[in-house]
Amino acid sequence: MNESIAISASNLTKKFDDFTAVNDVSFKIFEGEIVGILGPNGAGKTTTLRLLTGVYKLEEGEKIEIFNENLKDNQINCKIKFGIVPEISNAYSDFTVLENLEFSGKMYGLSKEEIKNRSKILLERFELLDKLNAKTKTLSKGLKQRANLCLALLHEPPILILDEPTSGLDPISVKIMRKQILEFRKAGKTILITTHDIKEAQTICDRILIMNKGKIIADANPDTLRRDFKSISTIIFKTEKELDSKLMNYPTLIKRSDGTFAISSENVLKDLSELYNSFTLKNQIQISDVKIQETSLEEVFIDLIKNDSTKKKGVKND
Ligand SMILES: Nc1ncnc2c1ncn2[C@@H]1O[C@H](COP(=O)(O)OP(=O)(O)OP(=O)(O)O)[C@@H](O)[C@H]1O
Ligand SMILES: [Mg+2]
Repeated sequence: MNESIAISASNLTKKFDDFTAVNDVSFKIFEGEIVGILGPNGAGKTTTLRLLTGVYKLEEGEKIEIFNENLKDNQINCKIKFGIVPEISNAYSDFTVLENLEFSGKMYGLSKEEIKNRSKILLERFELLDKLNAKTKTLSKGLKQRANLCLALLHEPPILILDEPTSGLDPISVKIMRKQILEFRKAGKTILITTHDIKEAQTICDRILIMNKGKIIADANPDTLRRDFKSISTIIFKTEKELDSKLMNYPTLIKRSDGTFAISSENVLKDLSELYNSFTLKNQIQISDVKIQETSLEEVFIDLIKNDSTKKKGVKND
């Protein structure tokens, strides 16, 4: 991966009266990375994206650089680097899809020919050609979201900022969106995406920032995050007969409601061999149907939020 920095944000803070929605947040996004921002409702994700994209004015001490250019000093130069799919669509609802594309294209200084050619390619890619002349307000949520992405991409920006682009979409629209997001990555674009779908984040993101109460509480790649976070797997198994109380006291053993047993393990091979010794060799109890379950990112996420300390894990930027 290219190590040049696409976005550098320092000490971002946003207050609404005396409520601090974003609290002294700093991070860097490297060129070509897909970074996911995850966090519970109200964590400050959208507000952070709004600060980044210049919707909110930066105060003294806050700094954003886009490809090394200061956003405060070079608003236009920086803003055209972004393709934005905001939480609330900025398309004109009374315009048709094509009219929105034409309007947006003109704002970015594209020629008629460029707008026509690029629109055709985008609408094809997002399977929207048949909605070309439909008023945007008549589109379903998923179709509108695809149109929003076409609008964001028209001026071929190097950075995409996507605020929950797949939220509430049907599986086909989700598939189209994800496929396209991965295509952008292949094309070397930098993507910052918020999502509540932890599986989505795990599948498409190189790095995940977890926000809670206006702070970034974890910054790492999905695997590191899982590994660093206690690195515990669960060994699930069945036994051929009931366990006596001595074996029921086996460290971390839990009897599950479906009759299987589970132990948490930081060293699966060692614990499996100990299980075999204690159960089968010493007590002649066969164990079967052994399954190893890795800690899911969802569990990591819930635990991090639950025990929200402000200690960052695996931080790459400081
Ligand atoms: N314009 C505003 N005026 C007052 N408070 C606001 C405003 N915008 C956001 N907030 C508050 O700031 C906090 C962060 O909001 P934000 O929209 O950034 O959260 P989020 O992480 O994007 O949540 P969600 O997952 O629900 O989209 C919330 O408590 C929200 O109510
Ligand atoms: Mg939001």
